[in-house]
Amino acid sequence: MSVPEYTNRKLVVPAELGLSRLKDKSVLITGGGSGLGLAYAEAFAKAGSFVTIVDFNKEAGQAAEKALAPNAVFSQCDVRQWDDLVAAFETAMAKSPCHSVDVVIANAGVIGRDDLYTLDDPTCPPQKPDLRTVDVNLYGALYTAKLALHYFRKHTVSAERDRCLIIKGSIAAYTDQPGSPLYNVSKYGVRGLFRNLRRTLHRDDVRINFVAPWYVRTPILSDKVVEYVTSKGVKFATVADGVRAMLNIAADQSINGRAIAIVPREEAPYGYMDLEHDDYEEGDVLKGWQETVLATAQSIVDMA
Ligand SMILES: NC(=O)c1ccc[n+]([C@@H]2O[C@H](COP(=O)([O-])OP(=O)(O)OC[C@H]3O[C@@H](n4cnc5c(N)ncnc54)[C@H](O)[C@@H]3O)[C@@H](O)[C@H]2O)c1
Repeated sequence: MSVPEYTNRKLVVPAELGLSRLKDKSVLITGGGSGLGLAYAEAFAKAGSFVTIVDFNKEAGQAAEKALAPNAVFSQCDVRQWDDLVAAFETAMAKSPCHSVDVVIANAGVIGRDDLYTLDDPTCPPQKPDLRTVDVNLYGALYTAKLALHYFRKHTVSAERDRCLIIKGSIAAYTDQPGSPLYNVSKYGVRGLFRNLRRTLHRDDVRINFVAPWYVRTPILSDKVVEYVTSKGVKFATVADGVRAMLNIAADQSINGRAIAIVPREEAPYGYMDLEHDDYEEGDVLKGWQETVLATAQSIVDMA
């Protein structure tokens, strides 16, 4: 089995998911202790996968491990810390029945106070901004991707076992978010990571896809935020549809290089859809530039 090179062939959402393909897979999920990450962990465990729940929050992670036993293990980890993440991947290798890492979901994320947006009193010395949001959402995903590629290559791909990396973004990777430059930067950053890696990872039989949710009711959104956006008529995407999309991507080995939006049911029948905003069409000036870059980029790297 070999991974198809990225093309602009969009994902067609199927009515049935081939979930039997997830049985006995080893799935590592960062931020797996809460919200969407926890819901993914529950669904993969139910489908017969072994899940390594990687989270900062010890109490939540331990509770999830207990609830999903024997199909899960918890590894406490701050995704900003390389050594913590290495230990998490080692845990997945050691504890999963197949002693492998097959699917990695770089999901951990935060929305914090945005120090870049908040301006200091110009008569006082400038305050160094707290960049935690970028550290967790972007640097954490970079470390996770680096380690996924390392551990994936410890097993041989086959019709049963592939290598699947899923990067968690947001619609904030496509829209301007006034007031939240750091969250915006972090999500555009991980989208850049996905777009870059999809050009080369097939050479190592690794699939990479990007998942971009619209507003979903999880603990990352405070009650005040939920109340406010609801009052503005905003419809929410659901956790259940986000889970279905994740299972679909992990189970279908033909899906590669796609960005999938998680959206309200009013927008798409199953609550998710191919975004189609990361491909250049004939006639787009960027298509020609992209082709030139593809033809030259590797040689420039080799010359450096
Ligand atoms: N809920 C939404 O509306 C929405 C929309 C778009 C994107 N997202 C993205 O989905 C992902 C999951 O968010 P969620 O909605 O489930 O939120 P959540 O707050 O319920 O879950 C986030 C999890 O990440 C963990 N985490 C935070 N910092 C960490 C760190 N440094 N190391 C390890 N774990 C850490 C938290 O402990 C928590 O368990 C995030 O990347 C978020 O940006 C969510």
